[in-house]
Amino acid sequence: PVPLVIDTDTAQDDCVALLAGLLDPAADLRAITMVAGNVGFERQVRNAWLTLNAAGRLGSVPVHLGSRQPIVRPWESAENVHGDGAGGLEMDVTGLAPESEHAVDALVRMAAERPGELSIVAIGPLTNIAAAQLKDPGFASNVKALYVMGGSNNGRGNITAAAEFNFYVDPEAAKAVFAAGFEVVVVPWDPLTLRQAVFGERRLAEIDAMGTPLSDFFTRVCAATLEFDRSVGIDGTTHPDSLTAAVLLHPELVTRSARYHVDVETAGELTRGYSAMSWGVHGLAANATVVEEIDAEGFYRYLRDLLATPTTPN
Ligand code: BDR
Ligand code: CA
Repeated sequence: PVPLVIDTDTAQDDCVALLAGLLDPAADLRAITMVAGNVGFERQVRNAWLTLNAAGRLGSVPVHLGSRQPIVRPWESAENVHGDGAGGLEMDVTGLAPESEHAVDALVRMAAERPGELSIVAIGPLTNIAAAQLKDPGFASNVKALYVMGGSNNGRGNITAAAEFNFYVDPEAAKAVFAAGFEVVVVPWDPLTLRQAVFGERRLAEIDAMGTPLSDFFTRVCAATLEFDRSVGIDGTTHPDSLTAAVLLHPELVTRSARYHVDVETAGELTRGYSAMSWGVHGLAANATVVEEIDAEGFYRYLRDLLATPTTPN
């Protein structure tokens, strides 16, 4: 199994990505690290507990709390998209305690303990990852590979015309990460997620009809985002974060990728967080592999299989 950490702003598809880390036999999930992003920080932590509970894995994976705001800017949320991020699900979290070690320290420590072994799936703003690199300049080379959900491959943004949410919220962090020398794989919003990892009415109905505890959980946590996506003309739910985890765990789902030089805009008036993805023609050395096409049906089957996993909530 692949040793990994998931760095997450847990809401909606982040929950599904956590299920992949928790239940896929190909994954050895060593820790969950939390970063400010989608919804209020405490709510995100609760969503992570809810997901661990749904997977029957409470207490088996350490949860580390990390950056509560971007490096230099105020935090901005996506509550208009995700609601509370878990479809109103609640649980009693009394007695559940995160680790006392900060997420950034945990990332640095885990990468240094086994240089070249740990992969990171970063599915929120890149604040914790940039901070870990600041703290330990050897961090990037200790990490085997960094799988980033973020940016747009010269296509549409989802929070502004130019920018995807994760890069928009902390553009300074994203810029620093692409300059740091990580082995990076990027799963961009457009065109990849927006056009390929979308589950329309038929697939959502199939999932709903599965009637397993996890398919119910999925339907519930995806409901608010489905409503939002439909309101902006997207034909179904979008799954950027679980796709990022799946790309690490099952690279055969990637049918086309290419090397790019990726940089992130921090100064533009209309382009904060824009990801400039340059191919060879611009003469810039490649620093990332960008996923361009996936086996979309294979990804759907993968998530269905995951949701069919028998579980006993704690
Ligand atoms: C990304 O932003 C968040 O809303 C999602 O969780 C995903 O990580 C998509 O732009
Ligand atoms: Ca996310």
